[in-house]
Amino acid sequence: MELLRTRADLARLAPLRSGGRLVLVPTMGALHAGHLSLVERAAALGPVVVSIFVNPTQFAPGEDFAHYPRDLEQDLERLRPLGPAAVFAPPVSEMYPHPAGAAVEPGPRADALCGARRPGHFRGVATVVVKLLNLVGPATAVFGRKDAQQCLVLDEVVRDLDLPVRLIDAPTLREPDGLAMSSRNRYLEGDDRRRATCLWRALRAAQRELEAGERGVVPLEELLALHLADADVVEYAEVRRVPDLSRPPRAEGRLLLAIAARVGPARLIDNLVLDVGPREVRAASLLEGGQP
Ligand code: PAJ
Repeated sequence: MELLRTRADLARLAPLRSGGRLVLVPTMGALHAGHLSLVERAAALGPVVVSIFVNPTQFAPGEDFAHYPRDLEQDLERLRPLGPAAVFAPPVSEMYPHPAGAAVEPGPRADALCGARRPGHFRGVATVVVKLLNLVGPATAVFGRKDAQQCLVLDEVVRDLDLPVRLIDAPTLREPDGLAMSSRNRYLEGDDRRRATCLWRALRAAQRELEAGERGVVPLEELLALHLADADVVEYAEVRRVPDLSRPPRAEGRLLLAIAARVGPARLIDNLVLDVGPREVRAASLLEGGQP
């Protein structure tokens, strides 16, 4: 496993790129089992590069950029058994030698949900991911369904800018009580940790209601809200269409049930992607070729 810190170091990836199967797994580090599951998924497709970079441009002023957990040594220890070909962990000055320069403007999928509450967030995500794709040159990049809107925004960027890469979304890994794994879960202690499970309970309740035949968007969103009484602030709890994130008139077709809520000091997000047919409700992926 090679550790690459600079643009110059990336020249060492040339032999891997030439096979046409290189896979990139972008992360911000503080790696947990959810991240590692993406690396495992990637390893089934070809040689893997994991990037570790806490990207300043996707944090708004007042968000947790300065406090975001960073522990490169531990991340490398966790990755080593999975055998990635390389880890790219550049300093900020290497990624942004020209701060306040050009950036990538995401499309309309960035307008709803988190995009509406975190101005500039997806512009920062799109910009850093396009840079990482250009620098590393993978054939495929793997992203977690946990960040569903991020997957769909990046899919739109790749499609509309004709980037020569295939994106795959991988399932969300959860704690035994259903809490989606996240680097930010370490902000949760005691009662906050217990209350944080309300996001998953709300999503499962809405799924059961769909399975029982409910197709009304408003009743489903009310049910989500009802189960989120344990959260301190519910930013949104919504039913949206995949892939355009528009509001459906009825809960039919491929849907995203998406929640963002604050519990104690943590801002948590979670979601379910479902194919809702006339009689059947099935787990689904966000992007073509993803496993449900
Ligand atoms: P980060 O939050 O570190 O997440 C890296 C990848 O891991 C993302 O694709 C995310 O969706 C995935 N992931 C997080 N929790 C997961 C879980 N419980 N199960 C499965 N996958 C999970 O997302 C980012 O970093 C950044 O925005 C990035 C894309 C790296 C750009 O800076």
